[in-house]
Amino acid sequence: MNLLRVENVTKRFGGLAANAGLSFSLQPGQIVGLIGPNGAGKTTLFNCIAGYSPPDEGSVFFDGREITGKPPHEICRLGIARTFQLVKIFARMTVLENIMAGAFLRRVKAADARRRGLDLLKEIGLGDKRDTLCGALPLPDKKMVEVARAMATEPRLLLLDEALAGLTGEEMQRAVRFILKIARNGTAVLAVEHVMEVIMFISDRVVVLDHGVKIAEDIPERVCGNTRVVAAYLGKGYAARK
Ligand SMILES: Nc1ncnc2c1ncn2[C@@H]1O[C@H](COP(=O)(O)OP(=O)(O)OP(=O)(O)O)[C@@H](O)[C@H]1O
Ligand SMILES: [Mg+2]
Repeated sequence: MNLLRVENVTKRFGGLAANAGLSFSLQPGQIVGLIGPNGAGKTTLFNCIAGYSPPDEGSVFFDGREITGKPPHEICRLGIARTFQLVKIFARMTVLENIMAGAFLRRVKAADARRRGLDLLKEIGLGDKRDTLCGALPLPDKKMVEVARAMATEPRLLLLDEALAGLTGEEMQRAVRFILKIARNGTAVLAVEHVMEVIMFISDRVVVLDHGVKIAEDIPERVCGNTRVVAAYLGKGYAARK
């Protein structure tokens, strides 16, 4: 059965259809890349799925039940966690406290939340910054704290909105290993990313948006060669490098 099913989702801002009749689905443990040019509607779709801004038309189903229009905290409790393109960390809390805030969704005892937080900190490689106030971190670190905070809620679906932007090569490799492990453990990942080398490497399937419309959905190899995708987003240079 599908873990996530997006059916005909349309979201309008005035006369602009930021999402226009979008449909696709995700299975447990799958990594799906969501790509497209700036303004294509990727973040809007995340907001529709996670309840921040419900769709005007269409439905979102999670684990067989309709979640369209439910508030974000309920959707999170059901098992969907996200990061934000414009980071929303708790700036005056430490790195560990930020991650513990996620862990408290399913844990009552602070000691349990702390243990979960410390495990995740190690995995994202920020163990030595655990007592740093998040507001003082560089942006790429803030993004990784958001990934860890999301994972601390033990989601079955993780939505990543440009979480890898700005990471160095080594940090990127660690983050990729972390995402692959998340999926191996059965959590589905829907990842918005402009770093094509990474998205094409980690994704089982790639969904391409342009002007709010899905213009392609396929395995990475075929998406790279899709003339419509090359014209709208990847560019001829990318196709030639492949
Ligand atoms: N709250 C809003 N009010 C009005 N227009 C909006 C709002 N949010 C998004 N839009 C518009 O909807 C379109 C899709 O925006 P969205 O942020 O979803 O694109 P995106 O694919 O995430 O782009 P990027 O790669 O730049 O993050 C854009 O034209 C944007 O200006
Ligand atoms: Mg966006």
